[in-house]
Amino acid sequence: MKSIQNVAIIMDGNGRWAQNRFRPRIWGHVRGAHVISNISERASDLGLNSLTLYAFSTENLSRPEAEVSFLFRLLDKFLIREEKKILENNIQFKVLGDFSFLNKKTLERISNLENKTKENTGLKLRFAFGYGGRSEILRACKKLNENQEEISEENFSKALYDDESDIDLLIRTGGDQRISNFLLWQIAYAELFFTKTPWPDFTTQEFSQIIQDTSKRERRFGQILTESIKEMSL
Ligand code: FPP
Repeated sequence: MKSIQNVAIIMDGNGRWAQNRFRPRIWGHVRGAHVISNISERASDLGLNSLTLYAFSTENLSRPEAEVSFLFRLLDKFLIREEKKILENNIQFKVLGDFSFLNKKTLERISNLENKTKENTGLKLRFAFGYGGRSEILRACKKLNENQEEISEENFSKALYDDESDIDLLIRTGGDQRISNFLLWQIAYAELFFTKTPWPDFTTQEFSQIIQDTSKRERRFGQILTESIKEMSL
């Protein structure tokens, strides 16, 4: 079994990419949306199980109103433009987070696409939108409490937005090396990869190379490999 099956990406650097070109920040988001399409297709071709993208955090809501509403419109356009490709590629699409602030039309589009693709068996494409890792954890705690379920790792994972959720590799573009409240529970044993490339310049080649390189890393999950035990004559 391949060691990298579930990948998450913090798609950072859109604003700086645009500003470095003397363009408004939203120009970076437009280009970024096209990159999402290419990377999802490559993830699907590589046979990954899931790709979770940080598209809009709870903290992003406090950005200037014009940028926020632009991102909402961009999501709406993305859903219209990408639907055909998502269906053709047998992708299962889902949005994770509290995105109830979106307008009715967009909410309907999300729910339609989720319903149309829920039986698809290919890549699980997750958009984290209105997402925050801490609030996801609190929500799961409340859910277990309400249902009077035993607090176990298994039940906790099931109470998250996406029940099949452990991440093998977290990539962050744009040069910063932080987690920014993304998938805090799910990345417990994830490999981390930080690239300076801003998201609008992130290519399918770089993506494939990162997967190839991190697949070679030895993942021990806190244990010692059998070969090492033999070598150390333990
Ligand atoms: C960070 O760039 C990126 C985001 C706020 C979210 C990611 C958004 C996209 C990839 C655009 C497409 C989105 C949808 C909904 C289809 P930043 O603005 O924080 O960049 P900076 O760090 O350079 O300021």
